[in-house]
Amino acid sequence: MTTEKVCIIGSGNWGSAIAKIIGRNVSKHAEFSTEVNMWVYEEQVNGRRLTEIINTDHINVKYLPGIKLPENVIAVPDVKAAAANATTLVFVLPHQFIGSICKQLKGTLPPNCKAISLIKGVSVNADGISMISDLISSELDIEVSTLSGANISSEVAEENFCETTIGYRIPEHGHLFKKLFHTEYFHVNIVPDVHGVEMCGALKNVVAIAAGIVDGLKLGNNSKAAIIRIGLMEMKKFSESFLEGVAVETFFESCGVADLTTTCYGGRNRKVAEAFVTTGKPFDVLEKEMLNGQKLQGTITAKEVNEFLSARGLADDFPLFTRVYQVCYENLPAKYITHDIEFVKTPG
Ligand code: NAD
Ligand code: 13P
Repeated sequence: MTTEKVCIIGSGNWGSAIAKIIGRNVSKHAEFSTEVNMWVYEEQVNGRRLTEIINTDHINVKYLPGIKLPENVIAVPDVKAAAANATTLVFVLPHQFIGSICKQLKGTLPPNCKAISLIKGVSVNADGISMISDLISSELDIEVSTLSGANISSEVAEENFCETTIGYRIPEHGHLFKKLFHTEYFHVNIVPDVHGVEMCGALKNVVAIAAGIVDGLKLGNNSKAAIIRIGLMEMKKFSESFLEGVAVETFFESCGVADLTTTCYGGRNRKVAEAFVTTGKPFDVLEKEMLNGQKLQGTITAKEVNEFLSARGLADDFPLFTRVYQVCYENLPAKYITHDIEFVKTPG
């Protein structure tokens, strides 16, 4: 049996919460090497290097304060050094940084390397929308599974019960990743739908912005429920229209309706969008003021999705996604977020 050497690429709020799970699970299962490298984007915190704080105090004081990380998780500031000899890579960083990370890792990985992406986002290029898992896969020539679910990091880090979904193509990878992530409080379900799992995670962030706007406008619970329902319908329609092989059942997994619900009530995108309405400050200012270095994905994804839809003359077919884009980027007053957002069925 080969010993799997795991490397976590990313160490933000979610990266650190998942490092706690991975650090413990590699010690439990014989197929994993017990030491785990975690690539950390180096920065100074209270006059000390973040990597030094993590390796000495075993707490990521900036991105997940108050939570002890296992001592077998080693913070490494150089991504190539962190991933050297790794056979299993866990990508967990905001999607805007994935391109530069892949460039650094290209050509350095062993042939038996595989990966899983916990990133919630998509990438737009001249050909259209591509999935982050596909981008990693083509840049690094490795197979990439996906993990996404109703997983607000702070709650996972506190060990409160929740579920998550892993999408796989190769069944052995699905089973291996289940071993790496499943715990008694973090339940993993595996499904053969890499893109469906990933697309749910990316698009729910756009709906979360709409939910936050509705909260800022104090429209109440019924309006938010309507946003969630219409959002889910647009997520499903978008995935079915532009990706092959997405299974309808995936929308009923944790990555689908459950993540959409938690994110529209408890996520950062919701929180910042609410403040956008109540303070009138721009999103980039609020991101800096409210998130202490954590990143928003919903506004960027709304822009990427809109570019893709507009280029095909389809923006009106996804009125909720379009309204979110218009409020965030075209100065549409927030009160129009619910204007003409009736779900538009695909003809035929
Ligand atoms: P985060 O928003 O907490 O942290 C930002 C991270 O980006 C930090 O680790 C920071 O060091 C790093 N960074 C800053 N500038 C950088 C640069 N120039 N290059 C590279 N890295 C840089 O991150 P997160 O919460 O761990 O999110 C990672 C992914 O996980 C996202 O796609 C997110 O949507 C998803 N996710 C987050 C949660 C959550 O509750 N936080 C839950 C599930 C999934
Ligand atoms: P936010 O990035 O909006 O906090 O969403 C967290 C999340 O993805 C929970 O599953």
